[in-house]
Amino acid sequence: MSASLLRFATAADFAAIAAITNHYIGNTAIHFGYEAVTPGELQDLWRQHHDLYPWLVAEVEGNVVGYAKAGVYRTRAAYRWSTETGIYLAPERLGRGHGRPLYERLLAVLTEQGFHAAIGVITLPNHASVALHERLGFQPCGVVRQAGFKFDAWHDIGTWQKLLQAPGTPARSLRAPAMVVREA
Ligand SMILES: CC(C)(COP(=O)(O)OP(=O)(O)OC[C@H]1O[C@@H](n2cnc3c(N)ncnc32)[C@H](O)[C@@H]1OP(=O)(O)O)[C@@H](O)C(=O)NCCC(=O)NCCS
Repeated sequence: MSASLLRFATAADFAAIAAITNHYIGNTAIHFGYEAVTPGELQDLWRQHHDLYPWLVAEVEGNVVGYAKAGVYRTRAAYRWSTETGIYLAPERLGRGHGRPLYERLLAVLTEQGFHAAIGVITLPNHASVALHERLGFQPCGVVRQAGFKFDAWHDIGTWQKLLQAPGTPARSLRAPAMVVREA
């Protein structure tokens, strides 16, 4: 495997990010969307939130081979220090060691920003995603049975969480991802 370059996403990455996402929308229940997304739609989502929620890409020989992102977990005020994280690799790049460093980097940025909990929501079964989350210290929180209906079947989802700060650490102002990286 060639090592990947890890960096923040830029506007130019969204054709590749949409192509990767649409593979999982069109062929699997890993992503619960029904309709393909356009690069512009994903770019708009990123633009709305990327001052607080990082999106990272892994690049090999100039090609984006995967991305990992953080986003809003739930909107009410007290949830501000929790973030939902996700990661998708191009299908031809699975199981070759690209996922772990990319997700590790995302978690490191979120920790430095001051987020308290990272939460991964996984359609079950997904052995690779469960393995990745558990290798990185996420713990299972529970299963919601038949939470989604796609491709003529109900699908369970499992939630995994990782505390990014010591338990009980007081909430502090969240810093922008760019600020964290500039100071590193
Ligand atoms: C989940 C995903 C990001 C993992 O990335 P990856 O590059 O395939 O995984 P890695 O090669 O980095 O392996 C990470 C760990 O998971 C384990 N693993 C990988 N694939 C596995 C599989 N199919 N079954 C069991 N364990 C697996 C590896 O052994 C490794 O553990 P180790 O570090 O102790 O050796 C990737 O498989 C993916 O994009 N899958 C499709 C989209 C998806 O499911 N996203 C998550 C949505 S919740």
